[in-house]
Amino acid sequence: MKVLVATSKPFAPIAIEGIRKITDAAGYELALLEKYTEKSELLSAVADADALIVRSDKVDAEVFDAASKLKIVVRAGAGYDNLDLAAATAHKVVAMNTPGQNANAVAELVMGLLVYAVRNFYNGKSGSELMGKKLGLLAFGNVGRNVARIARGFGMEIYAYDAFCPADAIKASGAIPVASREALFDTCDIVSLHIPATPETIKSINADIVGRLKKGSILINTARKEVIDEQSLLQLLAQREDLKYITDIMPDANEEFMKLEGRYFSTPKKMGAQTAEANINAGVAAANQIVDFLKNGITKYQLNK
Ligand code: 3PG
Repeated sequence: MKVLVATSKPFAPIAIEGIRKITDAAGYELALLEKYTEKSELLSAVADADALIVRSDKVDAEVFDAASKLKIVVRAGAGYDNLDLAAATAHKVVAMNTPGQNANAVAELVMGLLVYAVRNFYNGKSGSELMGKKLGLLAFGNVGRNVARIARGFGMEIYAYDAFCPADAIKASGAIPVASREALFDTCDIVSLHIPATPETIKSINADIVGRLKKGSILINTARKEVIDEQSLLQLLAQREDLKYITDIMPDANEEFMKLEGRYFSTPKKMGAQTAEANINAGVAAANQIVDFLKNGITKYQLNK
């Protein structure tokens, strides 16, 4: 059996070591395609792969067509908008993700970016503190819960809205549930996005909803750039000079956002899950899930059931 790790944004070497231990123990061959820039490289590398591990790499019908031996693809991470699940099913390939494995890394980045933002990007001017501020989590999955856990240590008041998570579960995790997205934006000083990119959420964060924020608020996005209606947000930020937008996913309209001096920051490359620990957690989980599936038929975390 051949397992291909195809990552245009590679794992830390220590994570590859961890993956290799698992594939060696299973008697599988491990192949690496790292830092590739052309889709054609992926298409030729998957030709003889039985299993595939990716990060945000796009795995679409063309990739499945080129991978005639492929039995399983695992997205080492949470969001699987890069996998064409219908094409996976059509090609009889099992698709999985590794939920929760990189959640702490993303949550720590949220807090780091927030400190950076409230301290005016360390420009020497007097800033403000996170203690006592109202933090709103839009979606309360693995990342949102980790942000809540860490933000409690900062003394923040934590609110959450999640269309799929009951209010009781939010309350049990120590956050205050609110009844709607609108209520979250009305209530909070900072709103942190943790929604996946789905047909329902794409472009759902626009001037109407963000415009509800109080004076001096911050919107932070470590989820997906697709959930933002960029032109609508830009228009709002042009009118509302009190608001800041901080993101870990550079918008397509980055150059226009850059004009909002002192109110905008984007990491140059998505950094949320870019830690050795998250790479080990997600990479090793992906390798274990592949072995569990190929040897024992275990389909826990299958997405295309
Ligand atoms: C995820 O969905 O798991 C995160 O966005 C991390 O994505 P990455 O593996 O491309 O860093």
